[in-house]
Amino acid sequence: MLGVCYYPEHWPESMWADDAKEMRELGLRYVRIGEFAWSRVEPNDGEYTFEWLDRAVEVLSAAGLEVIMCTPTATPPKWLIDKHPDILPVDINTGTVRGFGSRRHYDFSSQNYFDAAMKISEVFAKRYGNHPAICGWQTDNEIACHDTTHSGSENAKLAFQQWCEKKYQSIDALNTAWGTVFWSMEYNNFKQIELPILAVTETHPAHQLDYRRFSSDQVVHFHNEMIKIIRQHSPNRFVTHNYIPMVDTQTDNYALAENLDFVSYDNYPLGRSDLFFAQRPAEEFKPYMRTGHPDFASYSFDQSRGVSKKNFWIMEQQPGPVNWAHHNPRPEKGMVRLWSWQAFAHGADCVCYFRWRQAPFAQEQMHAGVKRNDNSKAAAWAEIEHMRDELKATDFNIEDPVQAKVAIVTGTLNQWVSEIERQSDSYNHQQVEFEYYSALRQLGLAVDFISTDCDISQYSLVVAPCLPIVDAAFVEKCKASNAHFVFGPRSGSKTKDFSLAPNLAPGLIQSLIPIKVLSVETIRPDCSEKLSYENHWYESRCWREELEISENTSVIAEYHDGTPAVVRENNTTYIASLSCVSFLIELFANLSNELSIDTVKLPKDLRMVHRGNSAYIFNYAGYEQTFPNPELGTFVMGSEKLAPYDVAILKLNK
Ligand code: GAL
Repeated sequence: MLGVCYYPEHWPESMWADDAKEMRELGLRYVRIGEFAWSRVEPNDGEYTFEWLDRAVEVLSAAGLEVIMCTPTATPPKWLIDKHPDILPVDINTGTVRGFGSRRHYDFSSQNYFDAAMKISEVFAKRYGNHPAICGWQTDNEIACHDTTHSGSENAKLAFQQWCEKKYQSIDALNTAWGTVFWSMEYNNFKQIELPILAVTETHPAHQLDYRRFSSDQVVHFHNEMIKIIRQHSPNRFVTHNYIPMVDTQTDNYALAENLDFVSYDNYPLGRSDLFFAQRPAEEFKPYMRTGHPDFASYSFDQSRGVSKKNFWIMEQQPGPVNWAHHNPRPEKGMVRLWSWQAFAHGADCVCYFRWRQAPFAQEQMHAGVKRNDNSKAAAWAEIEHMRDELKATDFNIEDPVQAKVAIVTGTLNQWVSEIERQSDSYNHQQVEFEYYSALRQLGLAVDFISTDCDISQYSLVVAPCLPIVDAAFVEKCKASNAHFVFGPRSGSKTKDFSLAPNLAPGLIQSLIPIKVLSVETIRPDCSEKLSYENHWYESRCWREELEISENTSVIAEYHDGTPAVVRENNTTYIASLSCVSFLIELFANLSNELSIDTVKLPKDLRMVHRGNSAYIFNYAGYEQTFPNPELGTFVMGSEKLAPYDVAILKLNK
């Protein structure tokens, strides 16, 4: 259940056998290789030098490791770029070409790159597809990372024009759908359509939304073709991809996952926390500087499980400081173990560490490995040994399911809408969703992330923090369900073509709760106002809607001036403002109580989740904490008193 990322091409061949032997001693079963090795296997066009990689596979497999082979397409070599300069993408903010010299320097609309990428994928798949040491494949690497979904190239423009023509059939239909009469933007034919970039001021939101849809489709198409090739030549092996969150890739991860066996996630809680919480005050951030926020890693774990509706892998796990965030602290002692256990508890079937040994050269030389560059053992080593022994001692079973009664409805489309039209600098889609998630997690609830087309029959509580575009099918599903639905502000406010809902927001959701949003205002984050709920004051901040309600609608929270802020009718609740996590915790605790969903009020920085018949408990605090409900079962690892950064496992009574 453990593995590592390894780069044989970075080390003398004389080290490989000892590396492999030590990997086995550390309890590792899987080793991922090859994802950046293109220049070493094809140094010149059509000249293949695979012998070294063949030997690496043999050495690793002789030690008893199973190999995950990657297609090397994240790093097209220099000769290929020189041969086809149109492979390089064009920056959408400056219009300049993004050059060779790092990675991911390719444009998803370049036919030359598409052909070259599929060719090298086929060469790899044919060579290693039936090799007994190869257990599975990783496609590319973090596809679309480093802002590469979008390109402002001529190729992208031509492909976008064709995409629009296919979608709208006639230019009149496009003009009507987008509303191009505004500011004289009407088109006479599809060849006139530009990319919505580099204009004087903001471009048309419907144009932007279609450009995002198109760009994501290009990535998905590229990826699907690669999967097809691998499957053709490598039967009975899994195919996965190492994801990062959608917000970083601008690609629809749900669509991307459709043809994979399962998704993998690259877990860098400190690096990503540093970027995610960059705007937060130091006093809020500092306690988690070396741990990450207690809900941050699991937020991505639960999303990963949602993307393919099954368990996932951690393909890369941070073993120490990284090199790429604004600041790069080292993890507290114990956190590598804690994150690994947390991933397993939230549905991971395997955790691989990135990387085996710190590279002495190049961009990531300041990035920790399991070993240091002098081959000594780095801090993560002992924690991985610990994991190895504990997985065995606790008989951890990957067949155990994560079963949630609560779901958060998510999706790329909603993210795109609220990014294109922020209406407030401080509205951040991911922050909004994260706060809802964090509130649920502080009640010890297991949470699934679902898209609107998922089956919702297993859930008692379905929460949509931001769902501007809803379709009739989803609303019908809600109507037919006994679950309770909670919609956040903006929900139902837009049509699929990015216009206002003709019956006012929340649009189609009015058939679940007959209210109307009469106006919307956004306010500065440091000018928040009050909201009262059950005789307590909470915050109303950033986003505030004015509601018209019908006589059967109950007001369950009010703004400071006595107007409705949160309303409910039957099994639908609508929240018209962004509030604070403490309000959401109270609201969800009350709803869970009403819906007979068990909750546990966890102390700050203690978290719990169920997988199978066990509760996994995590202490993110730098001090001892006590789990409040030890009577729920028997501890098979640790006890109700958790040391700083410790993990405990409770086998549940029922
Ligand atoms: C990942 C990436 C790896 C490596 C790592 C460093 O996002 O997939 O190749 O760059 O970050 O933390």
